[in-house]
Amino acid sequence: MNVLVVGGAGYIGSHCVRQLEAAGHRPVVLDNLVFGHRSAVSAEIPFYDCDLGDPEAVGKILREESIELVMHFAAFAYVGESVTEPRKYYENNFVATLRLLETMLDNGVKKFVFSSTCATYGEPDTLPMVETLPQAPINPYGQTKLDVENCLKAFAHAYGLSFAAFRYFNAAGAAEDGSIGEDHNPETHLIPLVIDAATGRREHIKIFGTDYDTPDGTCLRDYVHVDDLSRAHIAVFDKLNEPGTGCFYNLGTGKPNSVREIIDAVEAVTGLKVPVVEDERRAGDPPALYADSSKAQQELGWKIRYTELKDIIETAWRWHKAHPDGFDD
Ligand code: UFG
Repeated sequence: MNVLVVGGAGYIGSHCVRQLEAAGHRPVVLDNLVFGHRSAVSAEIPFYDCDLGDPEAVGKILREESIELVMHFAAFAYVGESVTEPRKYYENNFVATLRLLETMLDNGVKKFVFSSTCATYGEPDTLPMVETLPQAPINPYGQTKLDVENCLKAFAHAYGLSFAAFRYFNAAGAAEDGSIGEDHNPETHLIPLVIDAATGRREHIKIFGTDYDTPDGTCLRDYVHVDDLSRAHIAVFDKLNEPGTGCFYNLGTGKPNSVREIIDAVEAVTGLKVPVVEDERRAGDPPALYADSSKAQQELGWKIRYTELKDIIETAWRWHKAHPDGFDD
């Protein structure tokens, strides 16, 4: 299938492009390179440096590349920034997505796969988290993703759009061969920061809160390998053949790991000591978030290949060791 990967030069998008190729599909990448990296996408793949909210440019790509399905990974994802600069988040994550959907419909493209987030749930009352939990985001980032989810439901009903929205937990790791991986600027995610502290590129890692009501006092998260996430996006294709279908899936391993466990695992994998500073809680961090992904496993036959934290961190380490400064461009 000809698939337009919007945000295909970003962290999760670029891994998905690789998985699409491996599964025999034909990815076409659209990325404005604000956060994406040109060298994260191989030179053989059609690449368009343009904005997803530009109907003329996107419409032309949809027609000329005979696109049948659009995957959308391009979003701003700094939770703290979304609180201080919500305009940016509504504009980029909601308004631009709306433009993209309109352009798709205007060009007869009616299959859509959307990157949503566990942040749409806010602070869950029960764990592990199932898809039917109430969604009450506690920041504009989560809210804009939920707004898109709701827009998709209405568009499916009214216009026959078929869509899947994946609610990611903590995407982690890198391609098995270490050739592409996580490179954000600024980096805020725990695993790359801990690796940088191990190698001395950062002075230390700050643990945000050691007094949570969790087994070791630090936050619990569900770290899921980026290639496992990517494979779910392809496993859902058959579901989208029926016009007007909409489905939502949590994607996580279901295993909670604490901040301290991540630090210990990085030390074990790298053989290096991680200097640690215990700090205050970070505002807006729920104590524990982990998924019940049985729906994706049962309905899509989604199989989690990276079930061990150590294996996920090994892939991240391979990437960081080979590319300490990240991508060249
Ligand atoms: N953490 C630290 N020190 C750091 C960075 C993070 O202790 O320097 C802790 C955080 O407090 C949190 C855990 O490590 O408990 C993971 O933090 P990340 O920033 O790596 O990831 P989050 O769980 O905050 O964020 C992820 C996604 C977001 C999404 C959010 C939903 O990256 O896109 O889950 O809660 F919005």
